[in-house]
Amino acid sequence: MARGSRSVRIRRLRLADHPAVVGLLRAAGMTPRTRGRDGRAAFARQLRSNRTRYLGAFDRTRLVGVVLGTHDTRKGWINRLAVHPGYRRRGVATRLVRECERTLRKAGIEMFAALIEGDNAASEALFRKLGYDTGRLIYARKKLRPDV
Ligand SMILES: CC(C)(COP(=O)(O)OP(=O)(O)OC[C@H]1O[C@@H](n2cnc3c(N)ncnc32)[C@H](O)[C@@H]1OP(=O)(O)O)[C@@H](O)C(=O)NCCC(=O)NCCS
Repeated sequence: MARGSRSVRIRRLRLADHPAVVGLLRAAGMTPRTRGRDGRAAFARQLRSNRTRYLGAFDRTRLVGVVLGTHDTRKGWINRLAVHPGYRRRGVATRLVRECERTLRKAGIEMFAALIEGDNAASEALFRKLGYDTGRLIYARKKLRPDV
């Protein structure tokens, strides 16, 4: 396994990467909604949108980090940021977020946001280091079905 992150390269994700993305999200302790927004058909649809910037960090051919960047024309959203446990604290997430912001800026986006669970100290520390303000907000959401 690589010790630094210099051997890790970032590139746009493709549909063929979908199984690896799901595997990585699981390895990172997340719960990919494979019957919903993280499923293959949804992923394919999202990749075709000009509002997505889906990036993977690869150690040779192995996916070790992911960020699903989107924008809603007003702000950019950093979604599903995840790094494999064996590759953490080497700046992989930092590189992914910066590259995601860079590509979103090309679409005229000048404000970026992420939703962070209240007990996710690592993610809060990361985003604060990257210049994000964190405040306590109430997140309201409605799902039309449980596994969306
Ligand atoms: C959060 C996560 C993406 C960070 O990935 P990473 O590649 O290890 O992050 P980086 O190496 O770029 O860290 C940059 C900085 O963030 C902060 N940070 C990252 N992980 C941290 C941790 N566990 N505890 C405290 N600070 C942390 C540090 O300031 C770090 O700089 P340093 O290593 O020089 O001290 C990773 O821990 C992860 O995948 N967690 C599970 C999924 C998740 O929670 N995703 C975020 C959803 S909002």
